[in-house]
Amino acid sequence: MYLFDNIIEMIIPNNIKNIVILTGAGISAESGIKTFRDHNGFWEEYDIMDVASINGFKNNPELVFNFYNARRAQLQTPEVSPNPAHLALAELENKFQGKVTIITQNVDDLHERAGSQNIIHMHGELLKMHCIKTLKVYSIEGVLNESTICSCCKQSGNLRPHIVWFGEIPYRLDEISELLEECDLFISIGTSGEVYPAATFVAAAKESGAMTIEQNLTSTNLSRSFDSQLTGESSIQVPRLVKIILTP
Ligand code: APR
Repeated sequence: MYLFDNIIEMIIPNNIKNIVILTGAGISAESGIKTFRDHNGFWEEYDIMDVASINGFKNNPELVFNFYNARRAQLQTPEVSPNPAHLALAELENKFQGKVTIITQNVDDLHERAGSQNIIHMHGELLKMHCIKTLKVYSIEGVLNESTICSCCKQSGNLRPHIVWFGEIPYRLDEISELLEECDLFISIGTSGEVYPAATFVAAAKESGAMTIEQNLTSTNLSRSFDSQLTGESSIQVPRLVKIILTP
């Protein structure tokens, strides 16, 4: 057992029952999916407001449809698959004697493909679309564009990516705040903590008395808010952390 593991083992309380995990783009980076704010990230290539805002969509729907169609196509290539961090979180949910909830800012389906089930996609899902008239959500088969016919309206022009854009309200926030009130261990993995309201979750968890751990390649503007840091690649550090949590 490394000294590191002994330290982590010491800080994790024995009687935890509710684990809440917040994941960001960093957990999928080693699966080959770009992050947003790292070097070569999506926001170096695209203007956020062009492809991740309702006005961007109204101004140039084709650019937005193409942006998400390209990300969806990459996600569905054989090269992109869950990495050991996703798999470790699925093992934690499966073996932990208590509740494990993943709140993900990611829109990929790598947590699902790794076997996790208790997942909240607060920023939406790349493989889904919704009708702007009825808000009904559908899985996307192939590409989504302005000519895609909506199943509920039986016409084209009413469908958009099921993604929360800047200025829009993330999904299931009431459920998330209840989870943060109940949790006794909060783990943030692979997020820069630059986007709200996800950046407020660590403070809410601490308010509830939870132990808080930040796992990231580097420190972030939120690092000081956490009880401890687990620095390194998530594919290495997350399996180690899960092993410690699962070791009686
Ligand atoms: N292991 C752990 N952490 C990593 C790894 C890795 N292999 N690679 C990168 N990271 C970390 C980076 O250090 C950075 O802190 O992942 C974080 C990625 O930060 P962002 O690119 O800002 O992604 P994220 O925090 O998920 O962004 C939040 O912003 O653009 C919106 O809606 C989008 O959901 C996204 C939100």
